Amino acid sequence: MGEQLKKVHYFPGHMKKALARLEPYVRSSDVVIEMCDARAPLSSRNPLLKEVTQGKPRCLIFSKNDMADPLVTKAWEEHFLSEGLPSLAIDLKKEKLVNSLKVLFKKEIEEKRAKEEKRGMKKQPLRLLVMGIPNVGKSTLINNLAGRKAAISGNKPGVTRGEQWIKINEDFITLDTPGILPMNYLEEEQAIHLAFLGSMKQEILPIDDLANKLIDFLRINYPKSLQKRYQIDNLTNLGNEEILQMLGQKKGFLGVGGQVDFSKSALTLLKDFSDGLLGRYSLERP
Ligand code: G4P
Repeated sequence: MGEQLKKVHYFPGHMKKALARLEPYVRSSDVVIEMCDARAPLSSRNPLLKEVTQGKPRCLIFSKNDMADPLVTKAWEEHFLSEGLPSLAIDLKKEKLVNSLKVLFKKEIEEKRAKEEKRGMKKQPLRLLVMGIPNVGKSTLINNLAGRKAAISGNKPGVTRGEQWIKINEDFITLDTPGILPMNYLEEEQAIHLAFLGSMKQEILPIDDLANKLIDFLRINYPKSLQKRYQIDNLTNLGNEEILQMLGQKKGFLGVGGQVDFSKSALTLLKDFSDGLLGRYSLERP
């Protein structure tokens, strides 16, 4: 690797402040939907969420299931269930989440109803708070539940002012503003995964180093991917630079003197991967 990975960790003070800002919202909710990207359920979660939610019932939604390896996602669902965290993978752009919520929070709804009945109270919906790091689909999920464009998004950790509760059905209402957690990866490899997903500025590494790392990953895990998208065969006989060269030639990314523009090839490869155009691939396995 040409250059050292630039440190992009948040300072502990910054992290503490961001999490403290979320506390009132967690307090005013009954249950929490934690979100992560199905392609990288380790890197796209902030491990400190557990602390902030202080024992509130929680479920985990894997967004972008349409872009992840289905077998790996299944293994992740089983993994988290074995840790007592119910989870569900979904394509938020195509599938409706609302009916699955009742299953995910079955116990919490039943307990609430039993309490209300005992006290002779009217049925009240459970208050949902959607939480996760940037780009994991929080606003898309709120809109999916609301059945309209209701989510207020921003990229500041915490929640913006002027938020409102939106009725979903008789069992749930949700805050229109998600709780945005800072990214908090523990390993450098996780930062690279976030860059592959398009969730972190790709400038954490020079673009050709990042593309190199992606090609290395694809060679080992999904060797057919480059053939399918760019008709580049026989990967074992090609170096990474040759692969980028062929990609550039096929796409017509030629600069002065007819030379292949490697940066353009690298950017295209990275963008195609993060947009799911190479196929359904997972970066992390349980
Ligand atoms: P955030 O609030 O957590 O920051 O994430 P947001 O909902 O804004 O989603 C980030 C991007 O991911 C959006 O794309 C959104 O459409 C896409 N997305 C969310 N969930 C899914 C999913 O299940 N499948 C797929 N394929 N994409 C999903 P964008 O390009 O940034 O915006 P847009 O052009 O779609 O509006």
